[in-house]
Amino acid sequence: MSENNHLVYLVGAGPGDPDLLTVKALRLIQQADVIVYDRLVSEPILELIPSGTKRVYVGKAPGQHHMDQDDINALLVKLAKTNRSIVRLKGGDPFIFGRGSEEALYLVQQGVQFEYVPGITAAAACSAYAGIPLTHRGVARSVRLITGHCKANHPLELNWKSLADKETTLVFYMGIANLPELKTELIKAGLAASTPAAVIENGSTPRQRHCISTLSELPAEIERLGIQSPALIVVGDVVSFADELSWFRPQAGADIDTEQQAIEN
Ligand SMILES: C[S@@+](CC[C@H](N)C(=O)[O-])C[C@H]1O[C@@H](n2cnc3c(N)ncnc32)[C@H](O)[C@@H]1O
Repeated sequence: MSENNHLVYLVGAGPGDPDLLTVKALRLIQQADVIVYDRLVSEPILELIPSGTKRVYVGKAPGQHHMDQDDINALLVKLAKTNRSIVRLKGGDPFIFGRGSEEALYLVQQGVQFEYVPGITAAAACSAYAGIPLTHRGVARSVRLITGHCKANHPLELNWKSLADKETTLVFYMGIANLPELKTELIKAGLAASTPAAVIENGSTPRQRHCISTLSELPAEIERLGIQSPALIVVGDVVSFADELSWFRPQAGADIDTEQQAIEN
């Protein structure tokens, strides 16, 4: 611990299922003085916070910023001055498209000590909960984690040629809005239109829906099903394994209609 015994723990909360929290994450959540958390931290995980612990919500919904990143950074430093243990809880793994490294850098620059607790990132969890192995001998020998997000009205500036590799599984975070462009560019760059592709919405939670399709047909399927954020897109031959390996049966199917359930099962 630092000289003044104040420490910020940057903690990954995983994709939503509280059983996917690490033992260390759970212990820190239960011992923290303050918890600063994001929108993607699920309700069942928030329920694990003891009632006397101070909570601060700094979530950002797509398009509407609750608190900007500079303010969050400043808040963490301020809290570290007056509290012994601060848990900065973020969805998935904070170092994967989570700005966790930006927060860590700011803390270091301000002389605030931090520790890092990795979480299960959406790519690992959502694909697994949809029965999709990200690699498989003889089918996929590498995985790319890619952001499908870009500034409004800007094209996605990705190296499409390097992405269009039949033996690489592509996992797009924040890609729903730009899926039509992703599809067009990947096919233009050489990926077959028939490449298996999936979307997983609210992965690992009782509200999980997933849809297995092809690269060319996925945008229409997503629109038809009304899939919304948070959702992850997986493209590659490994997606076909979901036909046999799909195992997760969300329990709270109340908001899933029969037609959609048929797609999932
Ligand atoms: C800002 S990124 C944060 C990623 C996070 N740090 C991680 O490691 O998973 C948010 C995106 O992650 C994906 N995501 C996170 N949790 C998800 C979930 N439970 N189901 C589907 N996608 C999820 C979605 O693509 C979402 O738009």
